[in-house]
Amino acid sequence: MVTVAVVGAGNWGKNHIRTFANLSSARLKYVYDMNGQRLAAAAKAFPSVTIIENYESVLSDAEIEGVIIASSASSHYELGKKALLAGKDVLIEKPLTLSSGDALDLVQTARKLERVLMVGHLLLYHPAVRKLKELIESGELGEIYYIYSQRLNLGTIRRDENVLWSLAPHDISVICYLLNEFPREVSVHKGRFIQKGVEDVAFMQMLFSRGRIANIHVSWLDPHKVRKITVVGSKKMVVFDDMESTEKIKIYDIGVKEIDYQNYGESIGLRFGDIVIPRLSGGEPLRIEAEHFIECIESRRTPLSDGVGGMNVVKILEAAESGGVISKDGIGAAAEVSSGKIKEFL
Ligand SMILES: NC(=O)c1ccc[n+]([C@@H]2O[C@H](COP(=O)([O-])OP(=O)(O)OC[C@H]3O[C@@H](n4cnc5c(N)ncnc54)[C@H](O)[C@@H]3O)[C@@H](O)[C@H]2O)c1
Repeated sequence: MVTVAVVGAGNWGKNHIRTFANLSSARLKYVYDMNGQRLAAAAKAFPSVTIIENYESVLSDAEIEGVIIASSASSHYELGKKALLAGKDVLIEKPLTLSSGDALDLVQTARKLERVLMVGHLLLYHPAVRKLKELIESGELGEIYYIYSQRLNLGTIRRDENVLWSLAPHDISVICYLLNEFPREVSVHKGRFIQKGVEDVAFMQMLFSRGRIANIHVSWLDPHKVRKITVVGSKKMVVFDDMESTEKIKIYDIGVKEIDYQNYGESIGLRFGDIVIPRLSGGEPLRIEAEHFIECIESRRTPLSDGVGGMNVVKILEAAESGGVISKDGIGAAAEVSSGKIKEFL
C-alpha cells in the first residue's frame, strides 16, 4: 500500500482525489490546496480524506511516498521541485511546466535523487489509444500517411496558459506515441479573442520523417464538443471519437486500390470495405494512469508518460510558438530514450 497526497482540489484535481481514494493499492492521506474554499468542498465531497492547508507538512510526513500535483500549470514547477527535493515520487498534470528549462530541471532532479517523475498525459492510458497503437504496430493500417486531431468545446477558458498549452499536450503526446517519433518541424497559427495575451484557438502542424504530417486543432471557443483523432493509413483508416460512449474506435477498411496509369478514365481505383468497431477493454483511463503511478513507485520502473516525454511535449510547444524547427540533438536524443520506455512498458 502506497501512501499519497493530492495537491490541487480544482475541477480536475477532484478526479484524482476520487480515483486515488478508491484505489486498493493506495492510501490517500492528504488533499492540499492553497484555496480554503476548494479544500472545504473537497472535504464535503470526500469525507474520508484529510484536508491540509500547509504543503510543507505534507512534504515532511515520512509516510507520504507519492505526490500527485493537479494544481494550475504555473505552479507545477515549484510544487513539483519541492516534492522531489523532499524525496517524494511525483505525478504532475500536463503540461509538465510552462518552460522547457523548468521541465529539464525537474527531469534532472528526479534522476539525481532517483525519484519517479510521471506526467499526466492521460490519453496514453486510454484503451482506445492502446488499440490505435496496436493497429499501427501490427501493420494493419499499412503505412501511416497522416493524423489529425480535434479537441474543441466552449470552455474551460484558462488564464495562466493559452489553449495550445492547455489542450494540445494530449494530442502531441498521443501522436508522438503512435508514430514512435518526435516531429522535425512544428508550426502553429493561433487566434486571441477573449483575453489579452491568451489565445483561444490554435491550428498546429507537425512534420515527421517520410513526409508524415499531423494537424492539431484545439479551441475552447467552439460550438461543438469534439474529441477526435483520425489516423489515415495506406491500408485502413481509423477514427477515435472520445465523445462516443461505447463505439470509440471505428476502423474503415477503405483506401486507394491501385493507380492505373494506362487507363486514364479509371486511373485511381478506390476500395470501400467494412467498417469494424472493435471491443475495447481496460476501464477508466485515469484509474489506469493512477494504478501505473503506484506500480512505478513500488517497482521503481520508469512510467510510460515519464518526465522526459513531458519535457519533450513542452519543447514541442515552445518550438511551435517560436516558429521553429526542432534540433536533432535537442529533442531527438531525448525522444529515443522516451520511445525506448514506451516499448518497455508495452
Ligand atoms: N489530464 C487531463 O485530462 C486534464 C484535464 C483537465 C485539467 N488538467 C490539468 O490539471 C491541472 C488543474 O486543472 P483544473 O482544471 O483542476 O484547474 P482549476 O483551476 O480548477 O484548479 C486548480 C487548483 O489548483 C490550486 N492551486 C493553484 N496554485 C496552487 C499552489 N501554488 N498551491 C496549492 N494549490 C494551488 C487552485 O487553488 C485550484 O483549486 C492543470 O494543469 C490542467 O491542465 C488535466
